[in-house]
Amino acid sequence: MPATIVLGTQWGDEGKGKFTDLLAADASMVVRYQGGHNAGHTLVVKGESFALQLVPSGVLYPHTTPVIGNGVVVDPFVLLAEMEMLSSRGVDVSRIRVSGNAHLILPYHQQLDALHERHLGNAKLGTTKRGIGPAYADKSMRLGIRVQDMLDEKIFRAKLHTALGHANKVLTKVFNRLPVDPDQLADRVLTECLPGIQPLIADSINEIHAALEAGENVLFEGAQATFLDLDHGTYPFVTSSNPTAGGACTGAGVGPRHIDRIIGIAKAYVTRVGAGPFPTELFDDDGDKMVDIGREYGTNTGRRRRPGWVDAVMLRHAVRLNSLTELAITKLDVLDTFDTVKICTGYRIDGHEITTLPYHQSQIHKAEPIYEEFAGWNTDLTTVTDVEGLPANARRFLDALAKQAGVPITLVSTGPGRAQYLEYETR
Ligand code: GDP
Ligand code: IMO
Ligand code: MG
Repeated sequence: MPATIVLGTQWGDEGKGKFTDLLAADASMVVRYQGGHNAGHTLVVKGESFALQLVPSGVLYPHTTPVIGNGVVVDPFVLLAEMEMLSSRGVDVSRIRVSGNAHLILPYHQQLDALHERHLGNAKLGTTKRGIGPAYADKSMRLGIRVQDMLDEKIFRAKLHTALGHANKVLTKVFNRLPVDPDQLADRVLTECLPGIQPLIADSINEIHAALEAGENVLFEGAQATFLDLDHGTYPFVTSSNPTAGGACTGAGVGPRHIDRIIGIAKAYVTRVGAGPFPTELFDDDGDKMVDIGREYGTNTGRRRRPGWVDAVMLRHAVRLNSLTELAITKLDVLDTFDTVKICTGYRIDGHEITTLPYHQSQIHKAEPIYEEFAGWNTDLTTVTDVEGLPANARRFLDALAKQAGVPITLVSTGPGRAQYLEYETR
């Protein structure tokens, strides 16, 4: 630390929540910088599981301030429901801060997300239907409504009229749906959401910089992942924000020189939810075994995640895009009973072998993985909490992965629980 980014290096669900929660033990602030409630971050503490969508994963500690940064898109109904869920389970939510500059997701964004997906038919992206794309589109169109707009009823109503002036044309003329009444929606948001959210609205930039200037540790928690990044992912099968490290700077309001440590979270294998290319995808028993043992069903939507072997081509690319200082590997225990484990070290495309990610999407669709195989360890790792306890074969796999990626592995997770991890030193 002091300023550390935790982000996903694959297609999401790497275990960002678990490591953010773990590292937040030493942080005074945990800041979400992009995405919205398309995220599902699971924390397991003393056997109790918490699934978070919008609230930063530091919320379980009394000493951290969870901040929803300016780059996040906030559904105020979802935020309140999540706060209620946490309160009912004894978590203090009064310290949560929401940037006044964050944009709102409102019900018409979700309706439009679902309609766009239906309209795309077979070409659909498999979005979470949380309204993420339409809300960021409105932000880019300068039709977005910000959290701070709720503080002035006149401004809020006027902006809703303008935004819905556009959205209603799309709803009625393109999709043949009923229009949304701006004043009815304003009434609902101002009565049902504003009272609960108003006390949290903050000048997040000022608060984050005050913490950094005081030398406190600040964690920036990515949602989604490098290959779901709007610019760097497998477009169009991506989300509508920038989960990569640069997104932490814009989405939280800090310059790159503030960032000291950038931890890329990677599963010991890979999963992907939704459509899009996936060179190491498995359709065999090994894949089913990963899904079964790893319980690879979406935290958020319950969808089965597509499984595959870990891909070092992607990891090397993620190291470059994010300036990763290190990798944290999760779910190593899921591979405990595999006789052979594999790392994809390159691709074969049209008879040529390459070790970097091709920029052209159709090449990625055609890529056949080249694997290096390793003997499995056939040992239960879920109780291993130090590097000496790791079998030699598990170390060989991790060291080869770090060498392929080009950065050290510093942390390894061996189960969902907060205590199930070890500090690692790559040899
Ligand atoms: P995130 O979106 O990156 O925060 O990841 P998710 O929470 O969506 O998905 C990760 C899942 O794996 C959650 O159910 C975690 O509780 C679980 N998990 C995290 N680390 C480990 C691990 O090392 N081993 C196992 N077996 N499960 C893990
Ligand atoms: P966390 O933070 C995995 C995927 C969706 C879809 C694409 C676009 O838990 O890792 P969107 O609703 O964002 O417009 O959907 O991105 N997706 C995720 N996949 N984990 C996530 O978040 C995801 N958030 C979005 O499945 O393919
Ligand atoms: Mg998730």
